[in-house]
Amino acid sequence: MKKITIAIDGYSSCGKSTMAKDLAREVGYIYIDSGAMYRAVTLYCLDNGLCTPEGIDTARLEAAMPHIRISFRLNPETGRPMTHLNDVNVEDRIRTMEVSAMVSPVAALGFVREALVKLQQQMGKEKGIVMDGRDIGTTVFPDAELKIFVVASAEIRAQRRYDELKAKGQEASYEEILTNVKERDYIDQNRAVSPLRQAEDALLLDNSHLTIEEQKQWLKERFEEAVK
Ligand code: DC
Repeated sequence: MKKITIAIDGYSSCGKSTMAKDLAREVGYIYIDSGAMYRAVTLYCLDNGLCTPEGIDTARLEAAMPHIRISFRLNPETGRPMTHLNDVNVEDRIRTMEVSAMVSPVAALGFVREALVKLQQQMGKEKGIVMDGRDIGTTVFPDAELKIFVVASAEIRAQRRYDELKAKGQEASYEEILTNVKERDYIDQNRAVSPLRQAEDALLLDNSHLTIEEQKQWLKERFEEAVK
């Protein structure tokens, strides 16, 4: 069967990664969470004092970019990809509220996007990849054979992220998460470089009222149509 490229874009916390990850496992494709890469750069900024109350030290971050190595390694027990920053597993640290609160401004920087898009394109050279993010269908893989754009209401997305953090035993406030979700929507949609938008040839999926099982099934059907 021919291998294709699958781009899954949409708003934060709308279940893109769950469906992308499941499909990749089922069809034997590589799965890449591009948001994790922007989160890893943000964590680097926080750990190295590049995010200050005055903003991001863009000059120092730009100089540091060639030294920020991001990779994914499979956890042998769970089979899930773990994000590594300069060879250290940062999978849990990049999901904290501290990183979520800073990631959109970091992801709005042109030089950060340029470096990460290049890396993402390299990862997808051989096709057989499912990548999720904000600009995968528009910028990273404009020729992807299957493009999905996922939407759900901000309240439903905040509840999902709240449940996720709670399940991991992390402290969380629903109100704080909802504010963060709305702020990130605004920044992601209004930034100058590669703003979040639906590619013209992307299929729209509103999963506000779908179960994970239902959206998984929907995606599998779209995949089967695309590889036919
Ligand atoms: O999907 P996520 O919430 O983990 O993404 C984190 C942030 O990274 C989000 O605020 C937008 C940004 N992002 C992006 O700008 N482009 C991508 N391809 C993926 C994520």
